[in-house]
Amino acid sequence: MSVLVTGGAGYIGSHVVHRLRAAGRAPVVIDSLVTGHRDAVPGDVPFLHADVADRGRVGEFIERHRVRAVLHFAALSQVGESLAAPRRYFQGNTVASLSLLESVLDAGVPTFVLSSTAAVYGSPEHTPIPETHPTRPISPYGETKLSIERCLAAYHQAYGLRYAALRYFNAAGAEASAGLGERHDPESHLIPLVLRVALGTRPDVTVYGDDYDTPDGTCVRDYIHVCDLADAHVAALDHLERGGSSGAFNLGTGRGYSVREVILAARRVTGHAIPVVHGPRRPGDAPILVACPRLAEESFGFRARRSGLDDIVRDAWDFHRASAARDQGPR
Ligand SMILES: NC(=O)c1ccc[n+]([C@@H]2O[C@H](COP(=O)([O-])OP(=O)(O)OC[C@H]3O[C@@H](n4cnc5c(N)ncnc54)[C@H](O)[C@@H]3O)[C@@H](O)[C@H]2O)c1
Repeated sequence: MSVLVTGGAGYIGSHVVHRLRAAGRAPVVIDSLVTGHRDAVPGDVPFLHADVADRGRVGEFIERHRVRAVLHFAALSQVGESLAAPRRYFQGNTVASLSLLESVLDAGVPTFVLSSTAAVYGSPEHTPIPETHPTRPISPYGETKLSIERCLAAYHQAYGLRYAALRYFNAAGAEASAGLGERHDPESHLIPLVLRVALGTRPDVTVYGDDYDTPDGTCVRDYIHVCDLADAHVAALDHLERGGSSGAFNLGTGRGYSVREVILAARRVTGHAIPVVHGPRRPGDAPILVACPRLAEESFGFRARRSGLDDIVRDAWDFHRASAARDQGPR
């Protein structure tokens, strides 16, 4: 019996595949490679190059590999792009996920884990944010994830589908020793952008807004190491399979760092000056997003262990340096 990882060729999905194998599970992957990388999935992991909305091929793959759980990472996930192209996001996230859920229910798969996001909270009324905080997304991206969560809650009630909607805060870091890390193109996440400056492939990093109501005026985010996220998925899966409660769970650390603090950490770790330019605020950016992580800890014992800011930046730096060296090849 296997665990289907959709989006397993992407950043977080590939780390989860790695972790599932270490935990003795048998992952199988479906990925359209719209943003993922085929070489991020080991060659001996069964792989279907398909869109999750392709019901025929997805259903056949689920049956063939006797899938008993789905971890659903496949999605488009750029907030800014979702504001400019909401059709693409509602089709690619909401509609495609509903189609995947048809395949899941048809095959009688009992367990489903969704990659959700802190973006479902919109601009929070208070932080740290518990799962009971009102959900009022301020981007189409956040709306698409909330719509899938609502669908899962209804399917849980009506059909008994066990589910966890894992609301990630900011995933970062890398499992550099396994050759895994963040390879988005275009990249919108702060830490890889800052590290590109340190590598010399970008001249500077833009800080979007330095007049927020935060301690140093720049946005504050809760960074969670991608390896901690991977561990959380294995723990959530075990929890659901033991008959544990379904619902939404934050995955964060409860500690926020500002954009300025991240840049300072990158200067410490890389020894590079990392020049900064200041830009305007971006639409859809909340000033502070920090999780209350208590429910995941109480429900399935999850606690972030590798998510200190310098540890995250150092692991990401190891990955980016190794990738750059590989790209340059032997001299
Ligand atoms: N990276 C973060 O900080 C973060 C934060 C919150 C939530 N998330 C969510 O986590 C998930 C993974 O994010 P990521 O950063 O690894 O993104 P990613 O772009 O690296 O990975 C997504 C993967 O899904 C694949 N994919 C996309 N649409 C597909 C489709 N319709 N059918 C099949 N494959 C498809 C892509 O090719 C890619 O391999 C996403 O659902 C995202 O919304 C990420």
